[in-house]
Amino acid sequence: MCGITGYIGYREAYPIIIKGLQRLEYRGYDSAGILLYNDDVFISKTKGKVSDLEDLMNTDSSKQGNIGFGHTRWATHGIPNNINSHPHTSNSGNLVIIHNGIIENYDALKKELIKRNYTFKSDTDTEVLVNLIEEVKKTNDCKLGKAVQIALNEVIGAYAICVFDKTKPNELVVARLGSPIAIGIGKENKEFFVASDASPFIEYTKNAIYLEDEEMAIITANKEVEIRKIKDDSIITPEIQQLKMNLEQIEKGGYDHFMLKEIYEQPHAITDTYRGRLIANQGIIRMAGVDDNMEKFLNADRIIIVACGTSWHAGLVAEYLFEDIARIPVEVEYASEFRYRNPIITEKDVVITISQSGETADTLAAIKLAKSKGAFVFGICNVVGSSIAREAHAGAYTHAGPEIGVASTKAFTTQITLLSLIALKLGKAKGSLSNAAYRNYLQEMELIPKKVERLLKEDENVKYISSIYKDVPNCLYLGRGYNFPVALEGALKLKEISYIHAEGYPAAEMKHGPIALIDENMPVFVIAINKGHYEKVVSNIQEIKSRKGKIIAIVTEGDIQVKKIADHVIEIPETEEAFTPLLTTIPLQLLSYHIAVMLNKNVDQPRNLAKSVTVE
Ligand code: M6R
Repeated sequence: MCGITGYIGYREAYPIIIKGLQRLEYRGYDSAGILLYNDDVFISKTKGKVSDLEDLMNTDSSKQGNIGFGHTRWATHGIPNNINSHPHTSNSGNLVIIHNGIIENYDALKKELIKRNYTFKSDTDTEVLVNLIEEVKKTNDCKLGKAVQIALNEVIGAYAICVFDKTKPNELVVARLGSPIAIGIGKENKEFFVASDASPFIEYTKNAIYLEDEEMAIITANKEVEIRKIKDDSIITPEIQQLKMNLEQIEKGGYDHFMLKEIYEQPHAITDTYRGRLIANQGIIRMAGVDDNMEKFLNADRIIIVACGTSWHAGLVAEYLFEDIARIPVEVEYASEFRYRNPIITEKDVVITISQSGETADTLAAIKLAKSKGAFVFGICNVVGSSIAREAHAGAYTHAGPEIGVASTKAFTTQITLLSLIALKLGKAKGSLSNAAYRNYLQEMELIPKKVERLLKEDENVKYISSIYKDVPNCLYLGRGYNFPVALEGALKLKEISYIHAEGYPAAEMKHGPIALIDENMPVFVIAINKGHYEKVVSNIQEIKSRKGKIIAIVTEGDIQVKKIADHVIEIPETEEAFTPLLTTIPLQLLSYHIAVMLNKNVDQPRNLAKSVTVE
């Protein structure tokens, strides 16, 4: 999983590419590199971030040319160093490539190429691919486009590539399988942009083509883009889409970090998720993807939810929602386990996949598996036009707007919002929910954004608590029922951005092992709202207290009991139990954020991580 971007046209390519790389850096930041062409090939690349590449380029005056591309890497094959950084060049020096994905059969291909006297400088699969293209071009005496098409038919794996041929320097060839590529189309075909998502070119054009899997494009300045099927080289008429994203959405807008901006965007994002879908005063929830497939949902033997990471946590919340409200049995699966387990899937199953990026490789593979077994697949994604959105039979977008911070925040709450709407819609249709309860839920949902806003105003208290616990090596997070997944999510948020070890548990499970960890140095974050099993959670808190653990409790406004025993409390507004995850998660996001900032960590780009995981 890496970010790629390119330009061909009449402007200086360097500033466009470097800015594009900054916007794509969420996809990986192990190394960065650039190719520019101005009578000759110029390549610069370095281990580290895009800013390191920029520093390197600042000392170089040759950064000119109207064609070029750039890459920001999340290392798969080969450690992050200068040599393994992209772009990679073929043995002749004529072909240059950038690549997002993995060539799985690279070793076999490499051995074949070595037999034909090819040599390799890096440990990457990408260098193998560029030399394979060169070999095909030479053997078939063909143009770059044809060589790419033939070579890719020999490749097993996933890729989004952009290739340049020094002998034809007014052309870029791009191709995709499993990793995204968008092509931005400038006025009168005078310029084109290439990128992993549309963010690098949003200020230049709103017209874009999203390549489908197994498609490639030959992009030449002042000509129509030519799209071909990789399999048989047949020509396809592209669909040009109008982008809705704007520049403001992808910039920090005065916040220190994208993560903080995205936490604060949640009242709006939640509203945007239900806008046009929820008409509370008429008792209506409108969702085309569900309405059109209502029979499938209502006749389903069970719902299987498949996702990874934070999206998997949203799936766990949905298990409570669907079983509680719609009385449909639910299983929640890690996509990576599900796809390899030979799972039992039937035509009577509905599979719901959840993914912010819509590009997560394991989730995508799970969809393909479920489809092959005849299940109906419903995709919940944030990124419009993403691979998962296209692969599912039907689905719904969360409309959270771009999420750039690697740690998911608004993606989580908007996924839960959407899943709540679906559960309520199904509960109503199945009659498992009384009319009064249904109406009440709908009205309450409309109040959630204001309640999140109120909660965000309590940030100073969360910041103070963060300052007390920022140096601890370990933390426990406990919750029950609807808030057990929130405990898992709270722990994930803390570990991924502050590198403090944290574990989430169902509160009652504590006594089956984790209680051994509790002493006066162990902070325990407990979600102890006045719904569900409040009294039982209070007992769990007592158990921690009697072992001298530090208790930071998230309670409902007006709580008396927990306040007396906890070391610190954070209050959330009253709401329906089913909607409490939308509130309890907010202070835990803020807490992780503040601790990471206080520890001077890279909040938006935590080490070893990337925003969309397009490798298995
Ligand atoms: O794009 P997805 O929702 O499919 O991503 C799944 C996980 O990689 C993701 O939720 C990850 O766990 C978060 N960035 C953690 O904050």
